[in-house]
Amino acid sequence: MQKLIIKGKKVLSGEIKISGSKNASLPILAASILTKKTTLKNIPEVNDIFTMINLLKSIGFKCNFKKKDKSITISTNKFHTQNNVAPYRLVKTMRAGVLVLGPMLNKFRKAKVSLPGGCAIGSRPVDLHLMALKKLGAKIKIKNGYIHAKSDDGLKGAKISFSKISVGATENAILAAFGAKGKTVLSNCAVEPEIKDLIRYLNKIGGKITTKDRKIFINGVKKVKSISYRVMQDRIELGTYVIAASLVGKKIAFKNVEPNLIKTELKVLRKMGVKIKVTKNKILIFGNKQLKKIYLKTAPYPGFPTDLQAQIMVLMTQANGVSKISENIFENRFMHVSELKRMGADITIKNNQAVIRGPTHLSGAEVMATDLRASVSLVLAALIADNRTIINRIYHLDRGYENLEKKLKFCKANIKRV
Ligand code: EPZ
Repeated sequence: MQKLIIKGKKVLSGEIKISGSKNASLPILAASILTKKTTLKNIPEVNDIFTMINLLKSIGFKCNFKKKDKSITISTNKFHTQNNVAPYRLVKTMRAGVLVLGPMLNKFRKAKVSLPGGCAIGSRPVDLHLMALKKLGAKIKIKNGYIHAKSDDGLKGAKISFSKISVGATENAILAAFGAKGKTVLSNCAVEPEIKDLIRYLNKIGGKITTKDRKIFINGVKKVKSISYRVMQDRIELGTYVIAASLVGKKIAFKNVEPNLIKTELKVLRKMGVKIKVTKNKILIFGNKQLKKIYLKTAPYPGFPTDLQAQIMVLMTQANGVSKISENIFENRFMHVSELKRMGADITIKNNQAVIRGPTHLSGAEVMATDLRASVSLVLAALIADNRTIINRIYHLDRGYENLEKKLKFCKANIKRV
């Protein structure tokens, strides 16, 4: 099994390029089921994307990934018969696999998709996905670990209100309503930039979708165009490296980025005392040795993202005073804490709140990655720690960070994969 070895305490400087968004690419790849042919650009080369590509292939699509320009062309393949099954072996490794449910119901009027099962960061049910599909007229049964869904006469537009804000359920509902007969109104939706990107893509292939606050209005369509689309940049990757730069950066530049995508995060970092310069499409981080404590809570967009909670916690270990962070999205997303404590962090957890006393001196240790964002928080901790840190189980990192070592090495970090 591969490991990362990082020698900390190096001051970083240079430029970090941001890849295409994993969490925007996944629903758009699922949406490509609706088309005859789609070319997507700026697709990150990470394992979750390859899992989704394998899922599309197993349904019968031809997928042609071009490394050179990070594009993928997905097309119906006349030599393969299509089927409507998303198997357990693929969905169990990546929950976003369940997003094929809405598009498959539209395309085949029938779908059999494995229930995703357990997850390291929380129970993560799919009840809201299923509620939305039922409201659109799908008949749904759970049998042998699979969701069996059908809509013999096609889906029909409906008014759907989500009891809780969910990114995936909003996406699945949009994907299903896209081809449903008539009008659908979704209320209390997630409005993450990745959802806006999905809507932009769907409107380009012929969709009629508009939004207002947390409402989404969809006029079902039948005709679908074949297009080429460039996926947005990864705001969580950007946020991760901006936090890394705040920890160990002398001067790190992020060019060709949309600073507005991480407006909330930049505000938090400024409050903590990080020196930041933002221009139209560039962010410069100068870091700061005198960081201030902060109280934070994770919340759906435009709130502070749960996907950056572990990373900002590392920064909090270097701030003067007692910082607090409440995790309001997932019930079990503090698994990085015990590993950070092994490196010397002073953190206590009570219910959904972590209390971080700083500044603390971190020292290198052998640690274990547990999920994507927890893993990257250990990389960040290793960058400021004394001596050598060995991070095990880095396959979690490879699910969502493209060329992590290369990007950090370019800024002079001492990091290698063995
Ligand atoms: C998306 O997951 C992201 N994944 C996650 O990114 C991210 O952490 C999460 O949104 C929150 O921002 C992708 O976009 C592929 P949710 P998703 O449905 O859609 C509960 C990463 O590290 N819920 O918004 O699965 C759920 O348990 C990842 O890149 C229900 O109760 O998240 C959670 O408490 C991990 N019933 C809350 O809603 C449902 O049917 C929000 O989850 C669905 C969700």
